[in-house]
This record gives sequence, structure tokens and C-alpha cells, in this order.
Amino acid sequence: MFDLIIKNGVLVTPSVTYRADIGVWNGTIAAIGADLGTEGGSIKDAEGKYVLPGAIDAHTHLAMPFGGTVSADGYLSGTRAAACGGVTTVFDYPMQKKGKGILETVKARQELCAPEACVDYAFHCCITDLNGGALLEEFQAAVDYGVTSFKCFLVYKKEGMMVDDATLIKVLLKAKETGAITNIHAENPDVIDMNIAKFLSEGKTSPWYHYLSRPEFVEAEADKRAVHWAKSVGAPLYIVHMADKEGLEAAVAAKREGHKIYIETCPQYLEYTCEVYKREDGRNFVCSPPMKGEESRQALWDAIRKGDIDTVATDHCPFMSYEKDWGKDDFTKIPNGCAGIENLYPYMLSAANEGKISFGRAVELCAENPARIFGCAQKGSLTVGKDADIVLYDPNLSFTVSVKNMHSDYDHTIWEGKTLQGYPAETYVRGKLVYKDGAFVGTPGYGRFVKRETSG
Ligand code: URP
Ligand code: ZN
Ligand code: ZN
Ligand code: ZN
Repeated sequence: MFDLIIKNGVLVTPSVTYRADIGVWNGTIAAIGADLGTEGGSIKDAEGKYVLPGAIDAHTHLAMPFGGTVSADGYLSGTRAAACGGVTTVFDYPMQKKGKGILETVKARQELCAPEACVDYAFHCCITDLNGGALLEEFQAAVDYGVTSFKCFLVYKKEGMMVDDATLIKVLLKAKETGAITNIHAENPDVIDMNIAKFLSEGKTSPWYHYLSRPEFVEAEADKRAVHWAKSVGAPLYIVHMADKEGLEAAVAAKREGHKIYIETCPQYLEYTCEVYKREDGRNFVCSPPMKGEESRQALWDAIRKGDIDTVATDHCPFMSYEKDWGKDDFTKIPNGCAGIENLYPYMLSAANEGKISFGRAVELCAENPARIFGCAQKGSLTVGKDADIVLYDPNLSFTVSVKNMHSDYDHTIWEGKTLQGYPAETYVRGKLVYKDGAFVGTPGYGRFVKRETSG
């Protein structure tokens, strides 16, 4: 009757935590009950463990060309690391090249990803050019293909990724019309460029000036602008990697007025402040937006607790030490981005274990909400009929992160030395064991494309 029965565990949902067995058949959750017996399939005793839905990392950049190089985790190592951190679905961000279409952009990345993916995967497509308006005609086809979210960058002009406000509004409107959602990286590019030019001319080149060139108010202005346009045209908006209090408050106010504004933050903004840029290895923490002051960090935690932040995702975009070193004497030469895909769920669950938030809230932020917001109908919760994406979590394990016990291809991590209370013991993707007790046991190419439904 079942391929697998997970017995005696404590199941976690956003609203209830209860003891039950899960029966898995053909990759989906076939039954949940007090005692499903021991007939058929393999039996897993989860006594003493929490049973959680696999996490969805809604924000990663695998094999991403950026800053004169390519991010250090490709589809194989990135999704292998995901599996080992309890992430069963990864969202990647294919980047449209100017003049190219959405589907060709997505399909090209899908071809790279499909033979390597160790967990399931989905794509948000970054829009850089409307091709004279023609691109907008392709949104419906993308949505029909299962790509129901698009991203605009308000920064990265010289990298060719930035869009202007008119383009943003057109994307917002077309996304709304097709039932999709627009993701936004919100910082003010002109003020950043002005600050950078000033600091460089003054010989101020350390990573601290990365922070000072894009401080709180630089992010807040763009957050508010994006919220303003989304409200004005009544379109849904998902703000990625929120890191500042003022922008957060503006977005939360709009949510409270009833607008479909969703807010993502990342573990690095919950853990660190801009003080990291004063460290000798400060360049390793360089990402955009940068970590902010303690007031913002506290505001993010408050919003996590109150339910105002919708998701926590990683913005996983690691670079090798030698690449980060390019910026030893000039912060503008440091490729932007940090590692995190394997740390997301353990970090948030450790916060739950320590009583900062509930386990249900951690599950909501890392699994149920991203599934709902981004139309992953089969994912995100322990419900009969959904994919058997399951994590067995041992609340009694103590785990200290080191680059040596991660499963990525990078050679350093901003999480080095961080001790977590509790840790995933096993990860299942559609009923298949892919991680067990510190080791990857999955198969590259097993991961499937998640064809998403309309969201927003
Ligand atoms: O620093 C970052 N975040 N790098 C990746 C690209 C982006 O802005 O998300
Ligand atoms: Zn970004
Ligand atoms: Zn923000
Ligand atoms: Zn990103």
C-alpha cells in the first residue's frame, strides 16, 4: 500500500504540531494517520524527530555570470547542498540577455539544470529588456510553461541588468494580467554610483564603503518606489532580500492596506549587521543589499515574529576566495554574493529550537508561504496528495557550520563557526532519500522542473 512509512514522528504545520505516521506512495503523501501499521514498503522510525515539509529556497543564483566571473555553485553542487540542508525545491534566476526571449532564456538554463539537479527546481525569469515591447507578448507563454514570476533589478546598470521605472510598470502590469508576480531587487542605483565615485576619489576602498555606498536610506527609497508603483497599478509585488527597517515598514504598511505585497528576507540579514564589513575578511560578506545596522536586524526579526515577512530565502550566490580577493584594495571589484543554501532551514529551525519563533512559523516562512506565493501546488506542506518532500529533523543534534561539512563547491562560508541547535537528519524528495546523517545520497538528474500555477 505504501513505498515508505515514516512512523512516530512529530509533524509540523504552521498551525499545529502533532504526532502521526506518514505513508508515501509513488512520490506523494498518500496517507497521514495515528498508526499506519508496518505493512509494505520501507519503514522509517522517526521517534524523537520532527517531520517537516522540505524547504523551498525561493532565491538562488546557480552558475550565475556576475562580477566578471560565475557564481561558484553550479546546478549540481548547489542542489546537492540544498538537499543536505533540507531544501527540496530551489528557485533559480535565469537572466534574460537583451534581445532574447523569456522561454529561450529559461529553457537554456533548464537544459543545464535538468541533468544535474538533485532536488526539484523552478525558475523566476529576470527581465532586462522588453525588446521594444515584444517581450511582453511572451509573458502568457511563459506562464503556460510554468514560469509564473518575473524579476526586475533596480540596480546593476553596468552589468546590463537594471530596468527603469517605466519598464518595471510594464512588467508589473503584464505580470498582473497573466496571473504572475513581479519580484524586485530594490536599491537606488544613482545614489550608489554617486557614493562609490566619491569614496573611490577619496581613497576609501575597504568593504566598509560597500555598506556606506548603499546604506539603509538607499535601499528604503527603492523599496518605497517599488511599493508605490505596485500599489498604483494594483499589481502584486514580491520584494526580495529585504534588509532595511524603513523599506520594511513601508512594505508592511502597504500589505496592511490590503495590497498584495510580499516580503522576503535572508538569514544573513537576520544574523549579521554592517559591522561585518569592518572585519579583516569583510569582503567575504559583500552582497547587495549589504547587511545593515542593528536596528534593521531587530526590525526584521520583529517582522518575522509578527507574520509581516512572508518568506526567508537565501540569495545563494557564492564566490571563491580568490574572486572575493579581487576586491582586497577596491570594494567595487568584489563579486557580490554569499553562500547560504545549505544553511537556510537549519538556521531558521535552530531559531525555533531556541524559542525565537515557533517551528510552525519556520515551516511557514521556508516552505508553505513560498509554495503558495509562487504557485507550487504540489509543494510546501505535509498534506495528503502533495509531493513527499520531507525532512526529518533531530532537535537534539548540535551542528557547527564549517566549509568542511558543507556540500557546495565554494571554499569559504560566511556561516563558518555558527553553531545550530538541531539539524536535519534526512531529506526526501518525492519520497526518495537524498540526504542522510551528513551525507548526500541522492542522484544528480533526479530533480524535476516544477511547472507552477499562476500566483499573485
Ligand atoms: O549580492 C548579491 N545579492 N548577488 C546576487 C545578485 C542579487 O542581487 O541578488
Ligand atoms: Zn538582488
Ligand atoms: Zn528593502
Ligand atoms: Zn539575488
